[in-house]
Amino acid sequence: MRRPWLTILALLAGVQAIDLNLDDPENVKKACRAVAKDMLTHYTGMNPGDVPGNLPDPYYWWEAGAMFTALVDYWFYTGDDTWNDITTQGLLWQAGDLGTYMPTNQTRTEGNDDQAFWAFAAMSAAERNFPNPPEGSPGWLAQVQAVFNTQAARWDAGTCGGGLRWQIFTWNNGYTYKNTISNGCFFDLAARLAMYTGNSTYTEWAQRAWDWTIDIGLMTEEFLFYDGADERNNCTQFNQIEWTYNSGVYLHGAATMYNLTKGDPVWKERTQNLLKATDVFFKDEPKDVMYERACEPINTCEVDQRSFKGYLARWMAKTTQMAPFTYDRVMPKLRASAKAAAKTCTGGKSHTTCGLKWSDQKWDGLRDVGSQMAALEVMQSTLIARVDPPVTNDTGGTSKGNPEGGAKPPKQTPGRFTTHVTTADRAGAGILTILMALFVTGTTGWLLYD
Ligand SMILES: *[C@@H]1O[C@H](CO)[C@@H](O)[C@H](O)[C@H]1NC(C)=O
Ligand SMILES: *[C@@H]1O[C@H](CO)[C@@H](O)[C@H](O)[C@H]1NC(C)=O
Ligand SMILES: *[C@@H]1O[C@H](CO)[C@@H](O)[C@H](O)[C@H]1NC(C)=O
Ligand SMILES: *[C@@H]1O[C@H](CO)[C@@H](O)[C@H](O)[C@H]1NC(C)=O
Ligand SMILES: *[C@@H]1O[C@H](CO)[C@@H](O)[C@H](O)[C@H]1NC(C)=O
Repeated sequence: MRRPWLTILALLAGVQAIDLNLDDPENVKKACRAVAKDMLTHYTGMNPGDVPGNLPDPYYWWEAGAMFTALVDYWFYTGDDTWNDITTQGLLWQAGDLGTYMPTNQTRTEGNDDQAFWAFAAMSAAERNFPNPPEGSPGWLAQVQAVFNTQAARWDAGTCGGGLRWQIFTWNNGYTYKNTISNGCFFDLAARLAMYTGNSTYTEWAQRAWDWTIDIGLMTEEFLFYDGADERNNCTQFNQIEWTYNSGVYLHGAATMYNLTKGDPVWKERTQNLLKATDVFFKDEPKDVMYERACEPINTCEVDQRSFKGYLARWMAKTTQMAPFTYDRVMPKLRASAKAAAKTCTGGKSHTTCGLKWSDQKWDGLRDVGSQMAALEVMQSTLIARVDPPVTNDTGGTSKGNPEGGAKPPKQTPGRFTTHVTTADRAGAGILTILMALFVTGTTGWLLYD
């Protein structure tokens, strides 16, 4: 029943906050739709002449990948397939023929973490049985495997005893930086691939990525995560800033390992510790409302960072499916945060634009994809108990894989602690780098003029 006088009253008052009733799933779905619709006012990639999968400036390429993951999940949580077509279109365009998510247009910025944030969309699509891409395109699973293979081949034991660098290409700033999120994403993707396929190679890589993160000291004694470390001092000094998404990705990876190992107490304890540690990202007042501790209080959250809380919410919710014992601890926090986030969504023409600081419970006057996506993520995450856990290849998953996709996996998987790169390998890698550089500058000559 429509009640126009209420709308008019709200308009007169100048606000029309989304009224989130968490006990009514239809209400939550409607609110999510409004917030998602507002998010997509930023996106024009589906229009003729525009590039599918790109957001306009100032958003980096990776954030579009994160947005499509949110949309895959949105469809699964709500059943609303309005945006499935543009999601598939954007994903396939950026995945490329090999499914590696390595478009030549992005070589100036693409790091391992960026590539992984696109792979998460494909992984979710496989786990949720999102409609498969047409014949001739790599399947969702094949895309994740392709990304995984390119990254496993980049595992770099030459410094810091292993780990992935932040950047893929030597010419980008950050090539010497081994950052936590790149390694956390690789850990989580490996664990999920192991779960979906049952292939123990992925389990070994997940274990290796976890061990390296801990051994090198990127996880603190309080089970929180530093941002990263530089190989130029062999990763002995850390950039100590702590972001929500690092905790989120390791939490979800650990919960997946817990489930994969059929409840191994070691992974259980890790999952518990990581989850408890995330308490620091929730306020006491208003109680249990998530905030980005490293930047919100001092108003320095940059474009990327404005989306981070969404990923912690996403991964906390998914953690409850992998490790159901976490449910009672997770849900009150997601619910309180979703309620607060919804209260910020009063901005813009349609009064559905959300703000960055959920704890303020009001709009901040900014229109931002990251803030909007984070609100969507936390709101839809409250529906987690109403949806099925991820499928695997053995439990109804229909996604087509290709374990050898993307790039050849390394000739031999490195030993857990040491790998000796021979001089011949180095020379080979050097030649390859030069060839790559020639290829890339050859095809995107405009880079040189930048
Ligand atoms: C790369 O950029 C060109 C020129 O803007 C565009 O036509 C093409 O679709 C882009 N490719 C991808 C994968 O984004
Ligand atoms: C660099 O760090 C790794 C891992 O901690 C260690 O095994 C290696 O010996 C270190 N290398 C140097 C030259 O200190
Ligand atoms: C693994 O996940 C499934 C699906 O959510 C769940 O039913 C099962 O209890 C989990 N296993 C463990 C050991 O918690
Ligand atoms: C996945 O399942 C199908 C049958 O359902 C089977 O043919 C295929 O070999 C399985 N793939 C893997 C990687 O186990
Ligand atoms: C398991 O994964 C590895 C690494 O990608 C691959 O080489 C191998 O063929 C896979 N095994 C099966 C049975 O799919």
